[in-house]
Amino acid sequence: MTATRGLEGVVATTSSVSSIIDDVLTYRGYSIDDLAEHATFEEVIYLLWNGKLPNEQELNNLKEELANASALPAELLQQMKSLPLSQAHPMTVLRTIVSTLAMYDADAEDMTVEGNYRKAVRLQAQMSTLVTAFSRIREGKEPVAPKKELGFAANFLYMLTGNEPDEISENAFNQALVLHADHELNASTFTARVCVATLSDMYSGITAAIGALKGPLHGGANEQVMKMLSEIGSVENVESYLKNALENKKKIMGFGHRVYKNGDPRAKHLREMSKQLTTITGEEKWYTMSVQLEETLKAQKGLLPNVDFYSASVYHSLGIPHDLFTPIFAVSRVSGWIAHILEQYENNRLIRPRADYIGPDMQTFVPVEQR
Ligand code: ACO
Repeated sequence: MTATRGLEGVVATTSSVSSIIDDVLTYRGYSIDDLAEHATFEEVIYLLWNGKLPNEQELNNLKEELANASALPAELLQQMKSLPLSQAHPMTVLRTIVSTLAMYDADAEDMTVEGNYRKAVRLQAQMSTLVTAFSRIREGKEPVAPKKELGFAANFLYMLTGNEPDEISENAFNQALVLHADHELNASTFTARVCVATLSDMYSGITAAIGALKGPLHGGANEQVMKMLSEIGSVENVESYLKNALENKKKIMGFGHRVYKNGDPRAKHLREMSKQLTTITGEEKWYTMSVQLEETLKAQKGLLPNVDFYSASVYHSLGIPHDLFTPIFAVSRVSGWIAHILEQYENNRLIRPRADYIGPDMQTFVPVEQR
């Protein structure tokens, strides 16, 4: 038995949710480029969960179900106010509260198709409410209830700020949600599948996935990108920052990818959005610095930006606190996690690989008093 480090190149399951073939990403056979240009996030949720795009009636039904499920249990909101929120990373809060939500859900242990669908809708709707409510509570403000007439993207920004977003912000945020919704067998999705393959419940799978997404080698990178851009400060400092970082073998956040070697197809959409939004805010430096970083890293190391790189300046331009970048990734990616969890349940087999043992040979046990 020989191990493949990081399971690189290992095909661990079949899936019909999304594919990466020759650097082209599709959800259920639809190109990410088409979806990013034309689809609402709700259409993508429907597509991921049902394998087809919804007609108008089906879409309206899903929107209504999401709207009806979006409120958090009042008791939980009350509890949140007593937690040490100012010390905790928002991903820690999200992981904890999503796990707690299971205790308020009468369907938590219902493993029927219907029970799982009801949980799916609740998780998708409530994670958005949760991230925005948390953000307001830690600022000493009251949470804002969603508006039924707003779409998913607009509602998130509304619940976060208390103001309805303009059309450009809504479209940009919608596109970001669409681009992050699913990505084949990424680390957090694999985590979710491993968890539920033991026939554990959906809340456990999503809680585990949130934990995996938090790390800076995965979803946590977008927050780190903004930290890096702030540290660099101006375009003039890009070259020296990179020289120093690379000499010290530091990873540049938002660059590189395990699967894409010719570039992440999502990055170009976010780059365009970053250009547009930083022009509107008058803070073009975030975009200019990002482009300079991209060009220098490409020339020097052949490294290309991934989805996390330009999403940082996009979210910053939308006025979103930097430590909410990764929770927003989760608010979108939960749609994909759910699609994969449902697919795993449909054709389940326990996921239990082997390890190539490299420890000591057989040892003779010596009683404690003789050691
Ligand atoms: N900065 C500097 N060097 C890098 C980077 C980077 N961001 N990414 C890869 N490299 C270099 C490595 O140092 C290594 O060089 P070496 O062979 O000379 O030692 C080589 O490229 C291969 O890198 P690995 O880390 O082995 O590649 P792996 O496939 O394991 O990692 C990963 C992929 C984790 C995404 C990596 O590129 C990375 O750490 N990137 C920064 C974090 C990041 O942006 N994560 C988000 C990924 S996208 C997502 O999850 C949503």
